[in-house]
Amino acid sequence: MSIIKVRDLERRYARRDVHALRGVSFDVEAGQRFGIVGESGSGKSTLVRLLAALDKPTAGTVSFQGKRIDDLPERKLGFLRSELQIVFQDPMGSLDPRMRVRDIVSEPLGHREPDRVAELLAAVGLPADAAQRYPHQFSGGQRQRISIARALAPSPSVLIADEPVSALDVSVRGQILDLLASLVDQFALTLIFVSHDLGVVRHVCDRVAVMRRGEIVELGDVSQVYDAPQHEYTRELLAAAPNLRAELARLSGGDDD
Ligand SMILES: Nc1ncnc2c1ncn2[C@@H]1O[C@H](COP(=O)(O)OP(=O)(O)OP(=O)(O)O)[C@@H](O)[C@H]1O
Ligand SMILES: [Mg+2]
Repeated sequence: MSIIKVRDLERRYARRDVHALRGVSFDVEAGQRFGIVGESGSGKSTLVRLLAALDKPTAGTVSFQGKRIDDLPERKLGFLRSELQIVFQDPMGSLDPRMRVRDIVSEPLGHREPDRVAELLAAVGLPADAAQRYPHQFSGGQRQRISIARALAPSPSVLIADEPVSALDVSVRGQILDLLASLVDQFALTLIFVSHDLGVVRHVCDRVAVMRRGEIVELGDVSQVYDAPQHEYTRELLAAAPNLRAELARLSGGDDD
């Protein structure tokens, strides 16, 4: 079953005369790990905001679990706000520095639930006493673990990760990616994983959309797109990717964060 259905999506930013998305259509099946890959400015985060109904398209539709969400007012988006969660690139920018971890993690629940917080911190590999501390008391990798715990708090069915390791030290990227992959399994999540890094997408996803200048130029199973790319741009991206094998070896290793 398609959990997300996108049809003919357009997003223009009139003031800057930017056509950030054009004619974007695809389905994400429940349980899929769907990668969105493309260079900077290709429209990936714009698309993420529309999938999460944080922004409205200029044309086209987005459906979630068979129900259109692109035309709903915020007061009718409550179900989506728990069913779909996002982990952003920069955990420092997305965590309120004045809040303790227990409050950050329970914020999406709307109330404090110490047992749930403890369970979530354990699930992301943080010590129980992390709950009392503040974001600045953690390393970058640990802060991203906090973001992931918060995203999981309302038991979403879909997790969107928009460049979740790009801001992190190379040495901890592999650990965070492995954590995401194991949580996706453990909680039977649908994952939408955004990256400009082809190696990472191949490592994590089973299906991939290649974006260029606001359009999807190629869409298919990861093995098919990587082994037999159909579009010239995909071939260019693959050729430009620095030694994919070495990259993957590096990502699956890594030191402690
Ligand atoms: N709020 C906005 N107002 C005007 N233009 C915007 C806005 N947000 C994004 N854009 C423009 O839309 C295009 C797509 O941007 P977007 O952030 O979606 O790309 P991206 O693929 O996520 O890039 P990156 O890899 O750098 O995160 C860019 O040209 C960008 O400058
Ligand atoms: Mg982006």
